[in-house]
Amino acid sequence: MHENTTSTINPWSSENDVSIQRLFAEFGIEPIDDVAAELPEIPDFIHRNIVFGHRDYGKIVDAIKHKRAFNVMTGFMPSGPPHLGHLMVMKEVVWHVKQGGRGFVGIADREAHAVRGLDWAQCEACQKDYLTCLYALGYEGAVYVQSKNRGLQDLAFLASEKVNFSELAAVYGFGADTSLAHAVTVMHQVADILYPQIAGGPAPTLVPVGIDQDPHIRLTRGIAHKMRLFTIEDREGYISVRSKNAPEEALSFIHKRFTGSKKYAGHVDIKGSSMELVTRAVQDAELAEGGYAFVTPSATYHRFLPGLTGGKMSSSIPDSYIGFDETSKGMHKKVMDAVTGGRQTLAEQKEHGGQPDICPIFFLNMFHMIKDDTELHEIKQQCLRGELMCGQCKKDTAARMDAFLTDFNERIGSVLHLVDDAYKR
Ligand code: TRP
Repeated sequence: MHENTTSTINPWSSENDVSIQRLFAEFGIEPIDDVAAELPEIPDFIHRNIVFGHRDYGKIVDAIKHKRAFNVMTGFMPSGPPHLGHLMVMKEVVWHVKQGGRGFVGIADREAHAVRGLDWAQCEACQKDYLTCLYALGYEGAVYVQSKNRGLQDLAFLASEKVNFSELAAVYGFGADTSLAHAVTVMHQVADILYPQIAGGPAPTLVPVGIDQDPHIRLTRGIAHKMRLFTIEDREGYISVRSKNAPEEALSFIHKRFTGSKKYAGHVDIKGSSMELVTRAVQDAELAEGGYAFVTPSATYHRFLPGLTGGKMSSSIPDSYIGFDETSKGMHKKVMDAVTGGRQTLAEQKEHGGQPDICPIFFLNMFHMIKDDTELHEIKQQCLRGELMCGQCKKDTAARMDAFLTDFNERIGSVLHLVDDAYKR
């Protein structure tokens, strides 16, 4: 596999080096503010610009606003214990479930096995911990394990009929020496993302991810489109339903459903109807033909919580993360040892102030530990003015984290039965 080049993002690299501006300019991710402004309630993670970008989030906003069905799905690779680096995605999933979304969580054990080289016992060791955390945060919805979900595996196979090696090379930089299993796990992730629509019928589906997962989103969106039998085009004064792979009967079905529509070779033009009605008719036609009528999935992109040692928060660097099961003592040590945006000497820091914008401790507070905007703003200002020193700030942060972990662990006790139930099903 090649290194990160100018045209690929590598989901398996531990570098967090893709600038956000480049994501907007080069990859077609859009800033989230405008679409999110339409939400009935704007969550902290958008308001604080932690979730900064999206693809097609408008569909989800519409569904929330008009109380229409939508899904929210994510997957966790059980390659180590869940930690605060996973908390953002979990919160996004739970928030969208509370807005009316149907939740789906996949445990990506096949990915952990093929890409991270874990054996099956290791893959099993911590998968339940992810679910425990989700339930403790208020998650409701479906959960499954990739290696045990036959419907998912069948979907991965079908989806792979729409992908060839050059596309994998273009999207991921895969080359002649890439293991085939790596490509197979990519297809499992594609299937994860489309799976809610197999389970519950076509509906907008949100996948909240870090920017590193965008290649999977792009690939899946392309495949969802390729698996459609029709495209629908909103033209001036009429709507054109155009066949991609549809059999003749499906086209006639649509023609008959709209009186006054005109049928041509390969398309039907419809006047005087709405996009909504036509979309529904086309879905019915596709489903009747054994198709899936996938709605192209949507994604939101969040920044990464930086690790306490600098760089990414990662399960392979124990000091970089705080686990949900961390002891108070262990947590204190990691926080007190963390790198910060502080200056070389106390005198320098008093004179120039600290640099919260590059400080893992500040990010911890901004992401998860301080709910009140005024308090967060005040801390930032004190840091910038050289009034709040790193030692004090770390102590305050550790105290907040103590409260957070205590509360979290209390809630864990009351949801363990939900995890066991989920595994029995
Ligand atoms: N590849 C993801 C990771 O490395 C995990 C994952 C698997 C996933 N399937 C998914 C994420 C579906 C979002 C949607 O963490």
